[in-house]
Amino acid sequence: MARFVIEVRDLHKSFGEQHVLRGVNLRAEEAENLIVFGRSGSGKSVLLKCLIGLMTPDAGKALVNGEAIYELPDREASERLKTVGFLYQSGALFDSMSVRENLEFPLVKNFGVEDPELTERVERALERVSLADAIDKTPAELSGGMRKRVALAREIVVEPPVMFYDEPTTGLDPITSKEISVLIRKLQEELKMTSVVVTHDLVCARIVEDRTVILRGGEAAHEGKIEELERMDDPFLKNFFSSEFHEEYAESV
Ligand SMILES: Nc1ncnc2c1ncn2[C@@H]1O[C@H](COP(=O)(O)OP(=O)(O)OP(=O)(O)O)[C@@H](O)[C@H]1O
Ligand SMILES: [Mg+2]
Repeated sequence: MARFVIEVRDLHKSFGEQHVLRGVNLRAEEAENLIVFGRSGSGKSVLLKCLIGLMTPDAGKALVNGEAIYELPDREASERLKTVGFLYQSGALFDSMSVRENLEFPLVKNFGVEDPELTERVERALERVSLADAIDKTPAELSGGMRKRVALAREIVVEPPVMFYDEPTTGLDPITSKEISVLIRKLQEELKMTSVVVTHDLVCARIVEDRTVILRGGEAAHEGKIEELERMDDPFLKNFFSSEFHEEYAESV
């Protein structure tokens, strides 16, 4: 196995004239929680899409366990993705299915799991996100925070060794955001997943990080713990972490 579970090397991606990723380099070791922090439009989702093979970069490599998923034939790419969790920015669930059916779906479809193991694993995943009681509800009956937790349970029900999160706290109130962040940390500790968490939520980043990289000008420009990054004598970072910036930012999204 590759020494780094996630490895991005000199990654470039443009859309027309817009050069979004301009040589991103980053790595995550096994069981590490790597935060990718950056402003809206900095290319965080594009980076994740390259890693999971939804987009093909123009140059460079985005590797998961040493492989570029976007270079694999469809069948092999689908095989690899069975063991990679991805919590979408929108956290989409199947609305017509109950919580139980939502969680059963990846287990049955990808791994052919049957009862009694099926029920046990669904119940265990829901317990991990403290939603055992919601098993027979439909997504419409749940709050935004609960839906996010169910979406998370649906990803971890297969116990993926690699997990990607795109803005896991977007659209949630501060207390629920904190709860989700604590949950992400806890799940990582229990399941020893290697995770890349894309966010612009400082509270989330502080709770979840083993290490944080900041995407700036299309590159992973800074790296460290948030606490260290905040202390760096760099005008961009000072501005980035200042409350003014966050208020301004909150108004612009
Ligand atoms: N499929 C696409 N076609 C054209 N442009 C795209 C496409 N996907 C992303 N972009 C552009 O690339 C830039 C980066 O987008 P991306 O979604 O990665 O930003 P982000 O950092 O995830 O932002 P946010 O925090 O708002 O989610 C944006 O300017 C966006 O318009
Ligand atoms: Mg995004």
